[in-house]
Formats: sequence, C-alpha cells, structure tokens
Amino acid sequence: MTRVFSGIQPTGHLTLGNYLGAMRRWAEVDQHRADSVFCVVDLHALTVDHDPARVRRLSRQTATLLLAAGLDPEVCTVFLQSHVDEHTRLSYLLECVATDGEMRRMIQYKEKSAKERERGGSVRLSLLTYPVLMAADILAYGTDEVPVGHDQAQHVELARDLAVRFNQRYGYAFVVPKATLPQVAARVMNLQDPTSKMGKSDESGAGVVYLLDEPDVVRKKVMRAVTDSGRDVVYDRQEKPGLANLLEILAACEGRDPEELSGAYDSYGALKKDAADAVVEVLRPLQERHRELCADPAYVEGVLRAGAEKAREMARPTVDAAYRAIGLLAP
Ligand code: TYM
Repeated sequence: MTRVFSGIQPTGHLTLGNYLGAMRRWAEVDQHRADSVFCVVDLHALTVDHDPARVRRLSRQTATLLLAAGLDPEVCTVFLQSHVDEHTRLSYLLECVATDGEMRRMIQYKEKSAKERERGGSVRLSLLTYPVLMAADILAYGTDEVPVGHDQAQHVELARDLAVRFNQRYGYAFVVPKATLPQVAARVMNLQDPTSKMGKSDESGAGVVYLLDEPDVVRKKVMRAVTDSGRDVVYDRQEKPGLANLLEILAACEGRDPEELSGAYDSYGALKKDAADAVVEVLRPLQERHRELCADPAYVEGVLRAGAEKAREMARPTVDAAYRAIGLLAP
C-alpha cells in the first residue's frame, strides 16, 4: 500500500493556504486511499525565535484542527514529532550525507534568514539544517508520496536527493519519495499582497484568512482583497495575480476550474462575494468540529499518544537499518 506522510508546523494560526494546499486533501483523499501518517512538526517550530508557552498552545491547537478538518485516527496516524525520537536520530545521519552548499540553496532558508537579519536578530543553526530534519520526517516512514503545497516542493526534492545518495553510498535503506501538489490552490496568496504567499507568520494578518476566523471577519478580509487594475475578470496569474488568487480560492472551495469560473463573472465585486461565501461555507464544519473537540482535550491527547506509539513502530526499523548501513554497531 502507498505510504503517505506529511507535516505541519505549529508556528502560528493555521491558514486557508494550509487547508486548501494540504490539509483538505489529507482528509478527503489521502487517508482513504493510502496508509497515511500526519505529523505536527513541533521541533521545526524551534528554528525561529519562539515562546515555549505559545509553541505548546499552538501544538495542541494544530493537532485539534487536523482532527477537526477530518483526519480520522481510525484510518490514519496523527502525532507530534517530538514524541518520536526516530526523527532526530535519522536527521543526524542525513546531515552526514547532505552538504553545506545544498542547505544554503534552500529558498525558504534564504528568505527567512534574510528577514531575521533585517530585524537585527541572529539566525539559528537549526534554520539551516531544518530541511534535513524534514527529510528525516519523510524518509523514516518509507514514504512514497508527500502531499504538500508548492512552497515545500524544494524540500521534498532534497529528501529525494538524500535518499538516492544514501542508498547509493551505503546500500538500499530508503524509499525515494515524491511530492504531490494539489491541482488548484497549490500556492494561495496573501489577499493584501498577492505576490507573496498566505503564511502563518504574516505580521498584520489582514491578508490572511485563519481557519478559526469568524465568518464576518472572513467576509471582510476577502471583500477587501487587493485586486488588479481593469474590469475584466480573467484568469492570469502573471498579469492579474489578485484576481487569479480569488478565482483559485473559489475554484478550490467548490472543486471547480479557475479558468472556467472566470467566464461566469463580469465584476470583481460579484467574484469577491462568492469567494467570501464559499470560504465561510468550507470553514463552517471545521470550526464546529473544532469547538466540539476543544471541549474534550483528553480525547485529543489520547489520539496523539496512540499515534506516537504507532509512528514509533513504523519508523524504528527503517532508522535502525540506516544506522547499521552507515557503519554504526548495533548496541
Ligand atoms: P507549513 O507548516 O508551512 O505548511 C503546512 C502545509 O501547508 C502548505 N501551505 C500552503 N499551500 C498552499 N498555499 C499556501 N499559502 C500555503 N501555506 C502553507 C504547505 O506547503 C504544507 O504542505 N516544512 C513544512 C512542514 C514539514 C513537512 C515535513 C511537510 C516538516 N516535515 C515532512 C511534509 C513532510 C512546513 O513548514 O509546512
């Protein structure tokens, strides 16, 4: 059976980008057709300046939202990365296979480290090595497919490269994974700046729809989205990125095609209104379920505990085999 693995960082409140680019597919498609493993990657949240209490809170919230989005612990595995030591054990071995140059070429590293330096802060070493830990997350589970949004494709490519290199040098140890991207909404853009990604860590939040935003807040954010000059509703990512983003959001919410949708509108206002309604409808059941789950934190904790146990069993043989292959003696 195909093994699917994916992860999400508890570094901020989850966004519509996380949902349309990744989580929705995990819940609606992947968990039902593959042996699927989904992880709240809390160790990754320590790669930037962080507040321990906030990481704790967001880790719980992120796990709760994954369940609210429809991940079913009866059919897939959901857990916290820090509960399974195999991730960091394998990460070190992969650091011995990856190169310094390879790490410095990662787009996210370049962007995030530049931002940190601009703020006058220092860049944590873990920010540089983070894609190796991500490769370990993936390779520890013999993963075939990694369902992610566009921004993670380069990191999955690195995981592929490291798997191939390790296998060639030390003998077969890892399945070589591939990224799978959604057909629409692989890169949901910020509503106030449609040339940059809608991300959790955006400072103002005005252009970011959070999964727990109230319906009237969602409506306001979508209705105030920056659109492009002109009046024609056409789907053109280069020339009309604001409009294209709204068309993609609406298309993704309704399972339609953005190009086709563009033909149905003759004003920006009507498109915005429909997009706002569609987002509110998509988020409604998720928010309801989230409220229910918040009333039962012991259930969520139980799911995570059982998930970690299952995950450990899955990952340990692969990681132990890699330890032997690279030249370490069995204890
Ligand atoms: P993270 O936490 O930034 O995002 C989680 C998932 O959401 C997708 N995503 C988006 N998709 C479309 N449009 C957007 N605006 C948008 N924003 C986020 C991401 O592509 C991702 O699929 N490094 C990863 C977490 C990770 C991981 C892994 C993923 C750690 N280990 C192993 C897969 C496999 C990250 O920071 O994702």
